[in-house]
Amino acid sequence: MSDRLPVLRDLLKKEGLPYDGLFITRPENRAYLSGFTGSFGYLLITASEALVFTDGRYVEQAAQQAPGWKVIRLTRPFEQSVIPEIKRLGLASIGFEADHLSYGDYTFWTDKIKETQWLPAPNLVTRLRQRKDQLEIESLRQAVEIASRAFENLLGLLKPGMTEREAAAELEYGMRKFGADAIAFDTIVASGTRGALPHGKASDKPIASGELVTFDFGARLNGYNSDITRTIFMGGNGKQPSQRQRQIYELVLESQLAGIAAVRPGVSASAVDRASRTVFEKAGLAEYYLHSTGHNLGREVHETPFLMPNDNSLLEAGMVLTVEPGLYFSEWGGVRIEDDLLVTPEGAEVLPRLSRELILL
Ligand code: GLY
Ligand code: MN
Ligand code: MN
Repeated sequence: MSDRLPVLRDLLKKEGLPYDGLFITRPENRAYLSGFTGSFGYLLITASEALVFTDGRYVEQAAQQAPGWKVIRLTRPFEQSVIPEIKRLGLASIGFEADHLSYGDYTFWTDKIKETQWLPAPNLVTRLRQRKDQLEIESLRQAVEIASRAFENLLGLLKPGMTEREAAAELEYGMRKFGADAIAFDTIVASGTRGALPHGKASDKPIASGELVTFDFGARLNGYNSDITRTIFMGGNGKQPSQRQRQIYELVLESQLAGIAAVRPGVSASAVDRASRTVFEKAGLAEYYLHSTGHNLGREVHETPFLMPNDNSLLEAGMVLTVEPGLYFSEWGGVRIEDDLLVTPEGAEVLPRLSRELILL
């Protein structure tokens, strides 16, 4: 990641931004730029200096993870102990992350450091993070593979009567066992009528024969998240999917394939959403599509751009996007299918190798 700082400095110059320093508080941006992943820290970047502020728990870790950065140890109260270093640098202006710096810290520092002007900066680092480099893509691939293995493992364990919570626990244990540092987000297991909740957190409800079950899960590795959804049919007791269950599943799959086919560099995020959404509109079911078609994926599960009607950002090679249409019917249930795609110069590579046909257990 040693090349990320020069890229940011170039960007600051190119954009003609008037800051003598850039102050980074968002943890994902800190980790992206410096490599330092501790639970607390700030960065301050000037034309000639690169500083990591953290507390005693992390000074050694920061020195190891962020070679080339000067590590400043903060003591409580942290906001107070940042001040001498900022004064030493004598900066006329500092750009800060307006969507992250707390109002409390902002008023404290602007009050205590009168000689420096604090200015809201555009989301430059977030913008740099939209396109992933080789190191990031490798972590994302592995995070996808870990989640896929855990899901395959779960399929061998699922039985009617198992609760959603037990199924989620197996899936999460599998991800940890296969190498995840953490789970990416609370695992969603929504069976039967609960499938109508797009984000139905796993509950104590037993999964019954004859139900569709939606699993939305992801693994985190080296700070990067996967985000996959599959909807399966729980058989047993001679149950087969109903015609409606099959029809809704096929329609969601058609929508997902249309979205995937639309992904390539230069296409707008909203055009991919349109491709998926049109399938539901033609079927007269658009009102049962309750969310956007997808999002960029990385250190955060939801990164810009979003595949949604008003996001006209153009897709670029190196983005890793989800395509995840779904339909949700209150008192019936729902279906969603979600994959993670690497945008390539030619189009897109679907990363999970899991089948998208309706799985009958
Ligand atoms: N699991 C969150 C999402 O799919 O966006
Ligand atoms: Mn998901
Ligand atoms: Mn998602």
